[in-house]
Amino acid sequence: MDYIEIEGGVQLNGCARISGAKNAALPIMASLLLAGGETRLRNVPRLRDVATFSQVLQALGAKIRAESHELIVDTTTIDGYEAPYELVKTMRASFLVLGPLLARTGRAKVSLPGGCAIGGRPVNLHLEGLQALGAQLEIEQGYVHAHVDRLRGTTIGLPFPTVTGTENIMMAAALAEGITIIENAAREPEVVNLADALNGMGARVAGAGSARIVIEGVPQLQPATHEIIPDRIEAGTFLVAGAITGGEVTIDGCRPDHLGVLIECLRAVGAGVDVGDDWVRVTGVDRARPIDIITAPYPGFPTDMQAQMMALLSRAVGTSVISETVFENRFMHAAELCRMGATIHISGAEATVTGVPALHGAAVMATDLRASASLILAGLAAQGITTVSRVYHLDRGYEHIEVKLAALGAKIRRMP
Ligand code: UD1
Repeated sequence: MDYIEIEGGVQLNGCARISGAKNAALPIMASLLLAGGETRLRNVPRLRDVATFSQVLQALGAKIRAESHELIVDTTTIDGYEAPYELVKTMRASFLVLGPLLARTGRAKVSLPGGCAIGGRPVNLHLEGLQALGAQLEIEQGYVHAHVDRLRGTTIGLPFPTVTGTENIMMAAALAEGITIIENAAREPEVVNLADALNGMGARVAGAGSARIVIEGVPQLQPATHEIIPDRIEAGTFLVAGAITGGEVTIDGCRPDHLGVLIECLRAVGAGVDVGDDWVRVTGVDRARPIDIITAPYPGFPTDMQAQMMALLSRAVGTSVISETVFENRFMHAAELCRMGATIHISGAEATVTGVPALHGAAVMATDLRASASLILAGLAAQGITTVSRVYHLDRGYEHIEVKLAALGAKIRRMP
């Protein structure tokens, strides 16, 4: 199995181009099930999760080919209705096919995702939303069996603004009869990107980006070309890479308006941040100032950046408190950071990070996607050699991260 080796202590300098957002690409790929025909998606990141999602769509009858960062997807013939456990268990976002498949064909059988490293992650809100739209659901042997003649619009109030739950309901409602209102909807930029893709196909979705999304169902949708937004989590990870190594890194081809709270946090720790139309430049500090962070749904601090900020704060001059409010068990990276010399105490949903003057290289193990990124960042800042194993987590969500970091001067390489 591949691992990544880093010789730390090198300042990063230069420019990194940001790829398309994984979390926008996956729901938009699912949305293609709503219309029959050929679609071209632009700025699709080349990631393992995109390849897995392609397999899910292919299992349903879609034909897919990739041309560099474009994906050409033909959904003329959707003759399958099952998303099997083998695929869903490797990537829970596969559950996003449930809403569109049901809306287009009236029938779906999708494996329940099960737990994952960062918490239980139930899908009850997806299911309750689809039931409110009139779907008949049964759970048998780990699968959701769903069927419906025609979905009907209604008002759905979400107790928590679940991201993929909002997306699943929004896609189903696009072909429902009448009007659906989602209250307390997720406001993430990826939800907006999906709404734009749906509207490009002829849907009538208004209010995406706010907590109230109104969807007027239409009888059918047509394929349309669509561009995936830049990945704000990859962007944030590279900004922390610049900050943690005390270098000067510019990220290019990004959406600074999607990075608001992260830019505030970087400034608060003492890093310099300049912002342009589609670029952000960070100038690092030797040791960060401590800050307290509370993760929250957008526009709050993203849980997907929590692990990376923990790496940065582990070398701060003082004590920071990180509260994780989105997932119940998302501090697995803390123990690995401690193996590199960090001082982190976990109590329930709070991590108290007492900054140390230096981290030192160690052999560490990635436990999930963003935890892997945090360990890479810590390795870049640490004295000596760090090896990060289980890098398949990293390949799920970062396109050639080691190549992009090496281009900024990092001494990093992938070892077979
Ligand atoms: C999405 C992102 C993921 C990110 C997360 C939070 C994708 C493909 N993944 O995941 O990278 O970390 O948003 O920003 O976009 N919940 C329920 N019942 C449900 C659904 C969710 O209780 O039916 C809970 C979850 O257990 C969790 C919280 O709601 O505690 C947030 O989950 P959610 O927003 O649904 O995350 P995902 O959409 O799975």
